Amino acid sequence: MVPPKANEDFLIAEAHAKINLHLEVLGIRDDGFHELAMVMQSINLSDQLRMTKNEDNNITLKTNNNEISNGEDNLVIKAARLLRNKVGKTQLGVDIELVKNIPIGAGLAGGSADAAATLVGLNKFWNLNLEVSELEKLSKEIGSDIPFCVSGGRQICFGRGEILERLNLDRFDLGLILVKDPSIQVSTPVAYKKYKEEFEHRYLENDSDFEVKRNIVRSINWSDQSLLDNRKEVQNDLQKVVCPMTPEVEKSLNILSRLPGSRLVSMSGSGPSCFALFENYNQANKVLKEHVNEFEKAGLSAWACSMKSNGVQLRNEFT
Ligand code: C5P
Repeated sequence: MVPPKANEDFLIAEAHAKINLHLEVLGIRDDGFHELAMVMQSINLSDQLRMTKNEDNNITLKTNNNEISNGEDNLVIKAARLLRNKVGKTQLGVDIELVKNIPIGAGLAGGSADAAATLVGLNKFWNLNLEVSELEKLSKEIGSDIPFCVSGGRQICFGRGEILERLNLDRFDLGLILVKDPSIQVSTPVAYKKYKEEFEHRYLENDSDFEVKRNIVRSINWSDQSLLDNRKEVQNDLQKVVCPMTPEVEKSLNILSRLPGSRLVSMSGSGPSCFALFENYNQANKVLKEHVNEFEKAGLSAWACSMKSNGVQLRNEFT
């Protein structure tokens, strides 16, 4: 889709969350990050970044969520500065209002999606004309999941998560119910640290072994229909360590597995959010409505979502 032409002074960038349809830890890299084989999928749960030009060369951030810093450590500010430095135009300014809907510390890449939306939005807003591939390349400097969030859809992700192979699919009809206990967050570094402590003895050590695993992931059919068949290739390695130390994850997985029509059930990323796939959005939404009381009783926030075939979306009008 061709994004709408940016209004001179105002632009909205829609930042979509992701789920992991697969997350396999292959080994550890020289830079200390884990070597991964993943399949990520954008969903229609999104944050909104409202960008307004300012004349004083400042990059500012306001958010509706007081748990989030609006300082230099926020990925939105980091992304804006990174882009401005890359093009060497330090006179460019923007005021960003972040409307947060994606839960934080949830394994849904909310922060990464916001950074991706900042890059795509400002590239348009500041008329920089960088290619999407350049934005993806730049973004990996500040986070492993950001390159995926730029272009989104359903993609295989290798390396730290930044090496993307788009799947050639034309249907994204699946629906999902996503749940998260609002009282807990999982730290991604802690989840990987725990995984390493427990499973390092099984890590593969060289690139040719990684490549064998990558080829297996490439050979799997990741279409909607195939996912509904609930194959056992689909896995989230981090679930093996996060689930035992987070009872809320086990509770979420149990409830999701029991829902009528629920197919593949998994944790997303490093958790604690979990999801169940359904044939389509209408079915997921119907089941959600019928089980609202059960989710409430279990203390879980729940959403019915659809899949997105792309990542960041731009517009310059409220809809
Ligand atoms: O890149 P990102 O900021 O998302 O990573 C957060 C942390 O998660 C890293 O500091 C690292 O501890 C862990 N991580 C990892 N291997 C990856 C991605 C993340 O060990 N491929």
